[in-house]
Amino acid sequence: MSVESKPKNVTASTFLKKKQNNEKITMLTAYDCSTAKYFDEAGVDSILVGDSLGMVVLGYDSTQHVTMQDMQIFTAAVSRGAKRCMVVADMPFMSYHASIEEAVKNAGELIRSGAFAVKLEGATSHILSVVKRCVESGIPVVGHLGFTPQYLNVLGGYKVQGKTAENTKFILNQALELQKAGAFAVVLEMVPEECAKLITEKLYIPTIGIGAGRYTDGQVLVADDILGKYSEFKPKFARRYADLKSEILSAGEKYVSDVTTGVFPNENEVFHLSEEENKALEEMIKNEFGCN
Ligand code: KIV
Repeated sequence: MSVESKPKNVTASTFLKKKQNNEKITMLTAYDCSTAKYFDEAGVDSILVGDSLGMVVLGYDSTQHVTMQDMQIFTAAVSRGAKRCMVVADMPFMSYHASIEEAVKNAGELIRSGAFAVKLEGATSHILSVVKRCVESGIPVVGHLGFTPQYLNVLGGYKVQGKTAENTKFILNQALELQKAGAFAVVLEMVPEECAKLITEKLYIPTIGIGAGRYTDGQVLVADDILGKYSEFKPKFARRYADLKSEILSAGEKYVSDVTTGVFPNENEVFHLSEEENKALEEMIKNEFGCN
């Protein structure tokens, strides 16, 4: 599919229309300009500048170390590459909890960095107020329920959420509250597909699943998982579409071998003086040093 034939400027209403027409929404994370450009050209509806960058780009062991400054830099890079699709930026850990004012200010900074919308985790009464105030201020918001990585320590590890009827009802109520507060989509992470299906049926805004089964309105995966670049851990729900780790390893090994054996650089990869300048240089060396 050529870039020209793809829908332009994906917005919240594009998401809603897709849900109404039973068309799946596609979202992938990206953290740099060129990956964003290629995913945009490949036709994804949305790129999430996820705070997963803390782990897959910055090498931390959780998303809790990511700062507003990190998110601003990576959001700006992605938005320079993504011309057509919607860029959503994660609000990092503790950037929206201290006060509503600080949350709205930080959300505004991410929009200024190039995001179309921000994503935040949970649905406590504070979070619902933040969502409401952001939307009132003109900042579109995506919610995030189920497994919420910023609450890792409270949740006690990477665990599937909503595993009982009671928990499913709890997450459904959270999703309904987020919808009421003005979120235009909700990410559901690591919940049983029965739970995600029920929530998807009960909401008029779209659900985007990650490890949430087949019935959500859309799917999101982490770029480094689908590209086979992040090798620390492969989640059960992630499908690998490329093996960049092997490609990078073999390119690195070949380069080391070519440099150490003198195969790189070759004649086509070097610059030369013109014949005239080369003669002048030889003459200069002879005159100044008495030798050639
Ligand atoms: O940070 C991230 O990549 C995310 C996805 C897991 C949805 O929030």
